[in-house]
Amino acid sequence: MSDALPTYANVKIERDGGVTFVILNRPEKRNAMSPQLHLDMCEALDWAADDDMTKVVIVTGAGGNFCAGQDLKLFFRANEGNPKAMRKTGAASQSWRWDKLSRFPKATIAMVHGYCFGGGFTPVIACDFAIAADDATFGLSEVNWGIIPGGLVAWCVTQIMNYRDAIYYSVTGDKFSGKEAAAMKFVNKSVPLAQLRETTMELARKLEAKSPAAVQYTKEAVRSVRGMSQDQALDYLECKSNALKALDPEKGREKAMKMFLDDKVFKPGLGEFKRG
Ligand code: COA
Repeated sequence: MSDALPTYANVKIERDGGVTFVILNRPEKRNAMSPQLHLDMCEALDWAADDDMTKVVIVTGAGGNFCAGQDLKLFFRANEGNPKAMRKTGAASQSWRWDKLSRFPKATIAMVHGYCFGGGFTPVIACDFAIAADDATFGLSEVNWGIIPGGLVAWCVTQIMNYRDAIYYSVTGDKFSGKEAAAMKFVNKSVPLAQLRETTMELARKLEAKSPAAVQYTKEAVRSVRGMSQDQALDYLECKSNALKALDPEKGREKAMKMFLDDKVFKPGLGEFKRG
């Protein structure tokens, strides 16, 4: 298989070992999301999901900003009166920002610096983890130009923010910093900008070292049980556990049990067993 990385008009791919950066790449427009960017992100995420070398995906933006939301000119104005184009780009826009990212089979981290507005919230929320620069600027600015946080944004926001914060920031359009985002657990943590990449990579390396199957099944399980009753969750988690046991190509469970119970060379409470 070729190691060549794919190229796209509005998305850049970079690799650092098993960690793949998927980068929104319209820095001159603060990475506002054009129709082409949406189509490129769909392709890029499909590629990264299938790419054997990729164990962890970091989603970020080029040029010091995460994303200035939908491109008002190319996504909204240019599509006005063209329902076919709106349907196509609207579907691509929802597909990568929520469907593909929230169901991504590998660990995902949003690395947020600079501006993150409106529609840029969706991929941050869809990623499993989010780390922001202390001075990043988040804002649900839709209200400032007379629209609502549509295209799933309002729904995504209520998945992660408490109700008071969701209403407050949606209705006022007030900005909040990376530090404030961390305090309200909108992101996992914030760090000074100079440490953003290093801190994100530390987490990525930790995830990269774990069993890919265990990571995938665990994140799927946590995501899925949120909407279930206790009975449904118990049944589902039993099926999910059995599926992992049967399908894990590394047979991690058996190996780890042997290493802990028989060989006594590993303590599961203190770190992952040596894979491979
Ligand atoms: N849609 C279309 N173009 C955008 C854009 C957006 N969401 N955000 C930025 N741009 C464009 C600007 O029009 C400008 O283009 P130009 O160079 O052709 O004039 C370029 O990106 C740089 O933006 P500018 O406003 O000059 O940069 P700034 O650093 O001073 O301010 C922002 C950056 C993000 C604060 C400001 O551009 C802004 O408020 N953007 C809109 C954010 C928003 O409300 N998004 C929600 C949409 S759902």
